[in-house]
Order: sequence, then C-alpha cells, then structure tokens
Amino acid sequence: MTEQIYKGLAGVVADHTAVSKVNPESNSLLYRGYPVQELAAALSFEEVALLLWNGELPSSAEKQEFLDFERSHRALDPRVRSAIDLLPLDCHPMDVGRTAVSVLGANHPLSEDSSPEAELTKAKELFAVFPAVVAYDQRRRRGLELVEPRQDLDYSQNFLWMTFGEEAPEEVVDAFRVSMVLYAEHSFNASTFTARVVTSTLADLHSAVTAAIGALKGPLHGGANEAVMHTFEEIGIDPAETREDAAARAKAWMEQALAEKRKVMGFGHRVYKSGDSRVPTMKQALDAMVEYYGRGELMGLYDGLESAMGEAKNILPNLDYPAGPTYHLMGFDTEMFTPLFIAARITGWTAHIAEQRANNALIRPLSAYNGPDERHL
Ligand code: CMC
Repeated sequence: MTEQIYKGLAGVVADHTAVSKVNPESNSLLYRGYPVQELAAALSFEEVALLLWNGELPSSAEKQEFLDFERSHRALDPRVRSAIDLLPLDCHPMDVGRTAVSVLGANHPLSEDSSPEAELTKAKELFAVFPAVVAYDQRRRRGLELVEPRQDLDYSQNFLWMTFGEEAPEEVVDAFRVSMVLYAEHSFNASTFTARVVTSTLADLHSAVTAAIGALKGPLHGGANEAVMHTFEEIGIDPAETREDAAARAKAWMEQALAEKRKVMGFGHRVYKSGDSRVPTMKQALDAMVEYYGRGELMGLYDGLESAMGEAKNILPNLDYPAGPTYHLMGFDTEMFTPLFIAARITGWTAHIAEQRANNALIRPLSAYNGPDERHL
C-alpha cells in the first residue's frame, strides 16, 4: 500500500483552534474574531495579549490589573542575567532568548504546575520579562550597561527605553507597537505547532516555549526578518543615494538572485498565495519610519526588490519584509529582529499551549518507511 504523504504537512488540518483564523481567500487574519488591522489601529499590545489569552477584550479593571502585573515583572532576574553573561557575544541572539526562557523555567516555582491559573501567570511573566532579555543582549553586545525598566512607560515605550537608554519618539513607539500586534499570532505556524507538540507530551510551558524559539530561529520562519536586512546589506545601503537609483540596483540584484535560483527571504508564504494580510499595516508603519528618519533610499531598495520579484515570479512579500527595515530604522541590530518576534509571539504560543492542554491529544504522526527491507546480522 502506498501511503499518501503530506510533505511539510502542507494542507493538513491538524486540530481546531479558537485563537486565530487565517483566511487566505479574503486575505484576512482574525485574532479571536477581530481583524488584526483593527486591533493594530486601536489597541495597545498589552490589550491584544489579554485578548489572545482570555478570548475576550479586557474590561478596564482587568486591563489595569494586567498593566500593574506587567510593570512589576519587567526586571531581569539576576540568575537569567548571569546565564546570559556566560554566553559568547558572537552567538546568535536567538540562542540567548532560548537560553533565557529555559533558565526562567528551571528556576520557576510553578514550573511543573500546569493548572490554567499557573500557566497564565507564567505566560504573563514571560511577556513582561522578555523585553529585558532582548534589550540587555543588544546592549551587552555593544559594550553598554543594562538599563533598568521604567514603571511610568507602557510596554512598547519601556522596551525601546531599555534597549536604547532614551525615550523613543511617539512615531517610533507606535510603529513598534504595531509590529508587536502583527507578530503576536498566526495559527499553526511552525513555532506554534512546535509549542503544541511539546505541550501534547504534557511537558511544561517553558519547555514548549523554548522549543518554539528553536523553530522560530530558522530563516524559513522568523529568521526571515533579519535575512531581509542581510539582503538589503548585500545590495548595499547608501543613505545618500536617490530612491530611484536604489530601486534600480535592487531590481538588478533580484533578477540576478532569481537567475541563480536563490530563495529571497521575506517573500512567499505557505498559506497566503495572494498576499500576506499583515503586510499593508506593517508597510504603513515602515512608511512612517522612513518619513520620520528621512530614509527614502531604503524604500527604493524595498520597492525595487518587491517589483522585480512580482514581475518575475508573482511572489508577494510576507510580514518579515516590511518588519526588517522598520526595526533597522529604529536602531535594532539586525540579529535582534527575530528575538523581537519572540517577544510578540510569546502571546500566541502561550494561548495555544493553554488550548492544547485544555483538550489534549498526543501529537504523533505516522511515517512511511523507505529504508532497506528487513535484513539480519
Ligand atoms: N524566493 C524565491 N522563490 C521562492 C520564494 C522566495 N522567497 N518562495 C517561494 N519560492 C518559489 C520556490 O522556489 C518554488 O519554486 P519552484 O516551484 O520553481 O521550485 C515555489 O515558489 C514554491 O515554493 P515552496 O518553498 O515550495 O513553497 P512553500 O509553500 O513551502 O513556501 C515559504 C513557503 C515561506 C517556505 C517560502 O515562500 C520561502 O522559503 N520564503 C522565504 C522565507 C520567508 O520569507 N519566510 C517567512 C514566512 S512568513 C513569516 C513567518 O512565518 O515567519
């Protein structure tokens, strides 16, 4: 009998989820029923996190309670800081993020408590502390001291404050907030599915998140946002160049890359075939940053690559394409882009972990053996 193989599980519906709905036909993405564009236009990332975890928008009392909790759990645990300090400055920051979550799990008194209350507490704590991991890691790589969190700032303001040691302008905070909301959740993507597989064995939440970070690191998934910036860097970024010249160089680069059959990160998607629903909103945020920093030549590179890819292969950008240059303009080092994705996706992962636990079945597919026939020593 020849088994039907679904390579890469493409087209396989593995389970139900009430967390989000990706609809490639209408190019829409709903978090708990709400279009992500509406959420990005109107809500803080903290409110979106509560929506993903609880299924409903928070009341003002629930929101305030979470804001107080989040602000009081931002500081880096000294044990995590010591563990980070043991890691080499040239290791990938995703290794730092993965290690930090693992250390937090090993030290957590509720590590093995998988009751819904304990799981939600652990999820909220990870949400609150992860920005300090990213911020500290970028700073130590630049030879700078840790900046303590500030209670008077919201999540996005404080994230930027801890990273750069100065208050970010409103425009930058807003673009950052939008990126967090858009990156928060996307159904059964590779890292979320990884988190669900680990949860399905009844392992603890920190193990599931640590594994998810490993899955996110790859350039076919989260790592694409930094790969986009490496593409820009390979083409060459020259702030003095005109937008038109930059576009022409980018176009020529893309034609050459496609002729060499290279995969260009930031384009294409397993589910969306006529455009990623999140791109227009992220592109607006990028446009705002380009205008704020006066860097039209970056848009030249952006447009040149996009139009050449569209003309040659009709493959459209995914969220990582506008997110990469947005984070670059804000001042994040390229290798920090995927850890920023972790900070956002902790919400979606932990909402899926709770859903998996509430209605669990061990995830264990079959395989079709194609090795040697039975043989004997
Ligand atoms: N550059 C060049 N060609 C591409 C690209 C690309 N980015 N994406 C797809 N193609 C081509 C591919 O070469 C293949 O062509 P052919 O049929 O001639 O061999 C065809 O399109 C189908 O590609 P595939 O890789 O089999 O399709 P898939 O559904 O498995 O791919 C994907 C989805 C995301 C893995 C792929 O588009 C890709 O590798 N993109 C680049 C990585 C990337 O940007 N990832 C981020 C995804 S969205 C955010 C996230 O979840 O993290």
